[in-house]
Amino acid sequence: MINKPKGTRDILPNESYKWAYVENIANNIFKNYGYKEIRVPVFESTELFARGVGETTDVVQKEMYTFDDKGGRSITLRPEGTAGVVRAYLENGMGSLPSPVKLCYAMPMYRYENVQKGRYREFRQIGAELFGVSSYLADVEIILMADALIKKYNISDVTLNINSIGCKECRKSYQKALKDYINSKIDCYCETCKSRLEKNPMRILDCKEKKCKEANVNAPKILDYLCDECKEHFENVKKALTDAGIKYKVDSSIVRGLDYYSKTVFEFVSDKENYTILAGGRYDGLVEELGGVHTPAIGFAMGEDRLIEVYEKYNKESLVQENTPDVYIANVGEKAEKFVTILSKELRDNDIYVEKDISERSLNAQLKYANKTKAKYSLIIGEDEVETKKAKLKNMENGEEIEIELKSETIIKMIK
Ligand code: HAM
Repeated sequence: MINKPKGTRDILPNESYKWAYVENIANNIFKNYGYKEIRVPVFESTELFARGVGETTDVVQKEMYTFDDKGGRSITLRPEGTAGVVRAYLENGMGSLPSPVKLCYAMPMYRYENVQKGRYREFRQIGAELFGVSSYLADVEIILMADALIKKYNISDVTLNINSIGCKECRKSYQKALKDYINSKIDCYCETCKSRLEKNPMRILDCKEKKCKEANVNAPKILDYLCDECKEHFENVKKALTDAGIKYKVDSSIVRGLDYYSKTVFEFVSDKENYTILAGGRYDGLVEELGGVHTPAIGFAMGEDRLIEVYEKYNKESLVQENTPDVYIANVGEKAEKFVTILSKELRDNDIYVEKDISERSLNAQLKYANKTKAKYSLIIGEDEVETKKAKLKNMENGEEIEIELKSETIIKMIK
């Protein structure tokens, strides 16, 4: 037997409805905020992620599924959604649409990561991206939308952590101070961090190695180096969140694992599970980096796998129920079988969920199966019922039976 690759999961029918439910809720919220769905390819040119996400990030250096296709092009399975959405935005001239352009998605992503609870190699993200607004009001609106999502899933014990990582300008003086600090204790860092010092010292703040985390404890904080514009932007975001009643913590250690961010960054962390459910931020330089004109942008992505794990902890009572048949129609004999085929079709055409026998099983076996499907009602149709056009409709929950006319309108009235 061939097994599934490590880090992937089969979402079976007794689970898959939860994913549809969670995506449905997100779609409703996205609709109310004016976001429209975009679908982009699962694979893109490797260069898109190298340039977009950043050459020195863990995602690009260690986690991408990259291969040459038969035409010799280097291809990568998308490790995240933003770079592909920006590429599509540019390639389809969406910059000429009325601004802001608001896009949302629910898509699988691929990262070669150490597999553990809440961390998979194939996982789904529900995300939103907003293009064309530099005002702090866009940051506020997107964080409010993210907060609304988390609340709609009835998940408490989630902390919103925010930070500003400034713009290119204020990062120049910060990176100098950071490099000096790291250089002063360079032996305490892992080899990967040492190799990142020159090109991208801020990445070192995101290293997961214990000794690097310890070495970073007293590193200079980006918030102390923000330029006036970035400082004002961040102050405005914080004030507006407070005014809107949104609780948050400023966490100056958030730098995010992808290079495209600027100014506001944020993460919604499940305190119970101790992992991030939803994360995002501003990426004002990415559209330009990928060949477009300067276009401010901001977005987030929510880890659907993690969300469902947490969701189930908080929603034991109201967990969405699996869809069960409205009615099971059993048949006895050839005439009845033909009659049931037509009747079932009529009911299904009218949006009724019908199960019927297609395995030519005995009546006993059919009724056993009806019980297993947890059908709400059942009907047994034999030759007599076909003749008289009457049969007993059984309520499978309380066992009550009533004789009804075998017409689809009557059945629909009785079971809906
Ligand atoms: P990210 O922080 O890399 O950001 O991922 C966002 C969320 O995806 C994480 O907070 C987590 O819930 C989930 N996630 C990430 N990796 C895994 C994994 N291996 N297994 C399960 N869940 C995972 C981004 O991807 C950005 N594109 C977000 C964004 C959109 N920023 C701006 N716009």
